[in-house]
Amino acid sequence: MPEQRPPADLASALRERLRSVIDPELGLDIVELGMVGTIAVSDGRAAIEIALTTAACPLRGQIERDARQAALSLDGIVEVDITMGQLSPEAKAVLMDRARSAAQRDAPATSIPSAARIFGIASGKGGVGKSSVTTNLAVALARAGHVVGVLDADIWGFSIPRLLGVDGPVEAKDKKMVPKSLAVGSGEVRVLSMGFLAEEDTAIMWRGLILSRAVQQFIEDADWSGIDHLLIDLPPGTGDIQMSLARLLPRTELVLVTTPAVAAQNVAARAGDMARRGSIRVAGVVENMSAFTCDHGSTYALFGEGGGQRLADSLGVALLAQIPLDPALAAGGDVGQPVAGGDSPVAGAFSALAGRLIDGSPDPIEMTGCSARLLELLDQAVADG
Ligand SMILES: Nc1ncnc2c1ncn2[C@@H]1O[C@H](COP(=O)(O)OP(=O)(O)O)[C@@H](O)[C@H]1O
Ligand SMILES: [Mg+2]
Repeated sequence: MPEQRPPADLASALRERLRSVIDPELGLDIVELGMVGTIAVSDGRAAIEIALTTAACPLRGQIERDARQAALSLDGIVEVDITMGQLSPEAKAVLMDRARSAAQRDAPATSIPSAARIFGIASGKGGVGKSSVTTNLAVALARAGHVVGVLDADIWGFSIPRLLGVDGPVEAKDKKMVPKSLAVGSGEVRVLSMGFLAEEDTAIMWRGLILSRAVQQFIEDADWSGIDHLLIDLPPGTGDIQMSLARLLPRTELVLVTTPAVAAQNVAARAGDMARRGSIRVAGVVENMSAFTCDHGSTYALFGEGGGQRLADSLGVALLAQIPLDPALAAGGDVGQPVAGGDSPVAGAFSALAGRLIDGSPDPIEMTGCSARLLELLDQAVADG
């Protein structure tokens, strides 16, 4: 005859059982995440408190269903009453910490120094100047004395080699790819791009499956030792590469590039989706192609106004820089001479951006799972829009 368990024991057994309920976005169980509150069991009836990161969490139904099922799978429980609440800001902060360290724990080892900041330069759509911002920011950082890694993760649309005027082939040392080095001022830029490999005979072996793993190889099988910071030029949108970046380099911070005209909620929705699924931080927004000031001092907002600030506001992050529209920037890119290497208002804007990112520690907000306060902000942005 089975032993009758005292109720307190059943409650702790139930808590253990709830470890089988995984928050699908964070990949951790709800007990470890601190989402399970009081549990009471009497006469086969379980009362469970679960706190979500936001009351409007889209996974609410799924978590509740899974928890109910887990509880009912326990001998001695025949009825389940679940109260869904919301985590306090302090509990949310603890949850984010746990999610972050779990991601770090599961991330593969790389040669990227642990003190190096990693910035993913991202945007909702192409043509807004991600690659131009990446290369010019790299040059500005190098001029300030840093050793800057540039990883061109735009595998199918790479443009970094042209923009920096650097070419392959890539050499290997100790079975690791060695990024191409460029001396810039008192610093250095070290680059890896598909463009270095695509023109070579090796192009064939980069097709298909292997191609989709290229970014992983650029991260895991490359020698990034000695860099101070890493800039990753991401392909547009929120595809597989962004997702694998979240897994491979969970400490990546996104720098969102937008134009003054882009409707904030569109881009925000995409970036938000990406950050939510990948629990990535957003360091801030760079508005590119901002108002152009001609030699006579007149200012022309050719591409509209306010898009950068709108996006930053809708995400609750800082607008880090407004890079003016300047034909010299495009011209510099065409000849592999980034305009940030010179002496102009645009170069000044990149140098200020570099300072703001590295020294200013722009207090990135964290976005994890439903915790994304972003989701609320997005709803609001769409409602306001
Ligand atoms: N601030 C700017 N002023 C003038 N032209 C720019 C500026 N930023 C980017 N461009 C030009 O716009 C085009 C797209 O920029 P690019 O950096 O390739 O965008 P993305 O990488 O987002 O697709 C390029 O021709 C580039 O030279
Ligand atoms: Mg590009």
